[in-house]
Amino acid sequence: MSDLPPPPPPPPPSSLLPPSPQPGSLAPGSMPAAQDAPAVAPQYEFSGQPSAPVDDAIVRTHELTKRYGNLVAVNAVNLAVPRGSIYGLIGPNGAGKTTLMTMVCSLLRPTSGSVSVDGHDPMVDPAAVRKKTGYMPDGLGVYEGLDVGGYLEFFAAGYRIPRNEWPALIDGLLELVDLEVKRDAQVNSLSRGMKQRLSLARALVHDPDLLILDEPASGLDPRARVELRELLWQLQSMGKTIIVSSHILTELQEICTHVGIVEAGRLLAEGSPSDISMKAGSVRRVEVRFLDGTTEMFEVPDAAAQAELLRRLVLDSTRPVLECRELSAGLEEVFMNVTQGIVQ
Ligand SMILES: Nc1ncnc2c1ncn2[C@@H]1O[C@H](COP(=O)(O)OP(=O)(O)OP(=O)(O)O)[C@@H](O)[C@H]1O
Ligand SMILES: [Mg+2]
Repeated sequence: MSDLPPPPPPPPPSSLLPPSPQPGSLAPGSMPAAQDAPAVAPQYEFSGQPSAPVDDAIVRTHELTKRYGNLVAVNAVNLAVPRGSIYGLIGPNGAGKTTLMTMVCSLLRPTSGSVSVDGHDPMVDPAAVRKKTGYMPDGLGVYEGLDVGGYLEFFAAGYRIPRNEWPALIDGLLELVDLEVKRDAQVNSLSRGMKQRLSLARALVHDPDLLILDEPASGLDPRARVELRELLWQLQSMGKTIIVSSHILTELQEICTHVGIVEAGRLLAEGSPSDISMKAGSVRRVEVRFLDGTTEMFEVPDAAAQAELLRRLVLDSTRPVLECRELSAGLEEVFMNVTQGIVQ
């Protein structure tokens, strides 16, 4: 990234991680849109605005755009990340996820548009944004000759955390990511999953409110994925907002409270998984369990048809209904409806 702004000195931490973190107590200008963007025509109308107004967004972008020559990596994106959410940025390779994330955390200058992180513009006050944000990049980088403890001390020093607080802070972080037994191991000797967890610990060193995790699950085995998911829930219960990118849809479906679907630099849909599955025009599926023990699945096009179906079923005294349940479309189905497979 050749256009990095000069890095400001790391900010002091707001508070520190206790040795055993408890839930809730973790101390650990509007510009023109790109002109030469490839045409992306979603199969349904999407305004580019968040699906529902978000009153308390920790991150907002306005017409955020990044160009590399003729390529528009991020194209007039307006997103809103609700405070306390787990927000999944879903998109295929090259969709612009990493570019978007690095602009939010002040590491990359937008070509146009703006970002606000808790009221701070990353280009105007990068120190304030970095204090609030923990970024886990998609690679750990090479740290020859550092052991795990030393690696975290390196970042604690970078954030100017007083040296006498390092032991408790690092104990707490290693416990949180379950790497206590590797404290003295060389970073380069860790498995990929362990490196991912160490990278997450590093992002938490200064106890940020916002975590931006770029493909944290990539290359993890199934058990490590489950553990990561539980860790993210734990972090959310501590009050963190988490933005997480992935192209593994099923994984995000289980964990995310909100999703943004991106393709070829554009945000094609945004909202809660059920919101966007409605917007994407998926049929509604209603599962009905009858008193006689049978279950039937009905497909209806919209809310009115669903109400009519329920009325009809309830009025049919020959077959009493025990339970009705609407099943929202899976993210995978929504994703296939919304995207077109464009690679730029
Ligand atoms: N420094 C750069 N110079 C030129 N083009 C770039 C640069 N960084 C990214 N791009 C291009 O911008 C587009 C978006 O890239 P980005 O890395 O943001 O995608 P991504 O969604 O994170 O993909 P992946 O899932 O593979 O990580 C791609 O076409 C990529 O080639
Ligand atoms: Mg990426």
